[in-house]
Amino acid sequence: MTGNKPKKGEPVPIKDNFKALVIHGPNLNLLGRREANFYGASSLSEINLALTALGKEVGVDVICYQSNIEGELVEKIQKCMGSQVDGILINPAAYGHTSIALRDALKAVDLPFVEVHMSNIHAREEFRHKTYLSDFASGVVIGFGADSYLLGLRGLVERLKQKRELDLNELKR
Ligand code: DQA
Repeated sequence: MTGNKPKKGEPVPIKDNFKALVIHGPNLNLLGRREANFYGASSLSEINLALTALGKEVGVDVICYQSNIEGELVEKIQKCMGSQVDGILINPAAYGHTSIALRDALKAVDLPFVEVHMSNIHAREEFRHKTYLSDFASGVVIGFGADSYLLGLRGLVERLKQKRELDLNELKR
């Protein structure tokens, strides 16, 4: 599937895998070496491998990206516009609590996205309770450690399937 909706009269695309961009925000490159009480023992590459394996099971090609730099994250999101990416799974990390720029980029690309946090941000400092993404995310998964990503990917795929059904029904009308 492509991120772009087929127009009326255009051939309905043959079903192939969805494509999901997984975005990891700042300091997540340190997973496995960072505050294990909150984030567990898995490294970022172990999480990415698990996501890729789950993707194969549930029909989604997973592309993983991490940056500590806000502008790079914004650019990566912007590049989804008119691309093959169908949806985004994002752990914005600390930028979730601070970045209007990430919010604006996700609004601009207008793709389904799921926000994940490994720790339960509501059980931590008050400044972590609010994020700039949650109110327009397709879903939010919080507090399950590395499993937050896997649950989030499953949720994103379900959301993409629903969207595809709606798009196809609209084409038939
Ligand atoms: C985090 C929670 C954020 O508050 C924090 O800044 C992170 C990781 C999480 O996955 O629990 O870096 O997003």
